[in-house]
Amino acid sequence: GLLVPSSPSSSLSPPVILTQDDLKKIAAYKAVEYVESGMVLGLGTGSTAKHAVDRIGDLLRQGKLKNIVGIPTSKKTHEQAVSLGIPLSDLDSHPTLDLAIDGADEVDPFLNLVKGRGGSLLREKMVEGACKKFIVIVDESKLVNYLGGSGLAMPVEIIPFCWKFTAARLQNLFEESGCDARLRTFGGKDEPFVTDNGNYIVDLYFKKSIGDLKVASDAILQLAGVVEHGMFLDMATTVIIAGELGITIKNK
Ligand code: 5RP
Repeated sequence: GLLVPSSPSSSLSPPVILTQDDLKKIAAYKAVEYVESGMVLGLGTGSTAKHAVDRIGDLLRQGKLKNIVGIPTSKKTHEQAVSLGIPLSDLDSHPTLDLAIDGADEVDPFLNLVKGRGGSLLREKMVEGACKKFIVIVDESKLVNYLGGSGLAMPVEIIPFCWKFTAARLQNLFEESGCDARLRTFGGKDEPFVTDNGNYIVDLYFKKSIGDLKVASDAILQLAGVVEHGMFLDMATTVIIAGELGITIKNK
C-alpha cells in the first residue's frame, strides 16, 4: 500500500494507507463528476471502470442522476449495469455517445493507450470511438514512456481459424522489436481465452520499442485474420490519474 500523510489538523493520527484499488476508485469517482443527467454513456470494463459503473448506479438510485442510458463495452459490464438497474442500449440505437469512462493498461505521454488485458478491446474501441468525450481512469502504475514499455502484453484480437498462422505473421511483423506472440489462455491451462465476440487473443510482448504507432497499427490491421488491436491512438480526450500525491488530470 501507499502511505499518504493524514490531514494537518490530525498530525498525531496514523497515516492513511491507500491500496491500488483505492486509487482506482478515486480516479473512477472523479470521472463520474463529469456525468450529467440525460447523457448516453459508454460503460468501460475492468477493475477500475467497475468502480465508475458502481458509482453511476449509486447516483441513479439516489436520484442525483436521471435519464442515463448506458452502452456497455462487455458482457461483464452489461451484467453489472443490469444488476445496478442502469438503463442500457446499444450502438445501433445510439451511434453517438456523450461520454465514455474506461480504464487502460498503459497510458503514454500523448494519451495514447494500450487496452484489452481484460479482453474487451474490440467492443471498447467501437463504443469509445463513437464518443464525444472519452475519459480514461488509471492509477499511476499505468503510466509509460512509450506503448509496450511496461513489458506487459499488447493484445490483438484474432479469429480462431488457423490462429497459429496469424500469431506467426504478427510476430514476424515486429521481428526487429524482438516480438514474442503468445495465445492468451484461460485459467493457466492450454484452453484458449475466448472473447465476448467468440475470438481469440494473441498477446504481443516486445523487447524494444515498436517505433511509429500509426505504422504499427496499420500493419497489424492489414493482416487478414486480425479483428482489432489494443492500441487506442488519439482517442482519449481526458486522462485522470490517481497517485500517491493526489489526482492529476490531463486533457488532449
Ligand atoms: C479491458 C481493458 C481494461 O480497461 C484494462 O485492462 C484496465 O483494467 P483494470 O482497470 O482492471 O486495470 O482494457 O479490456
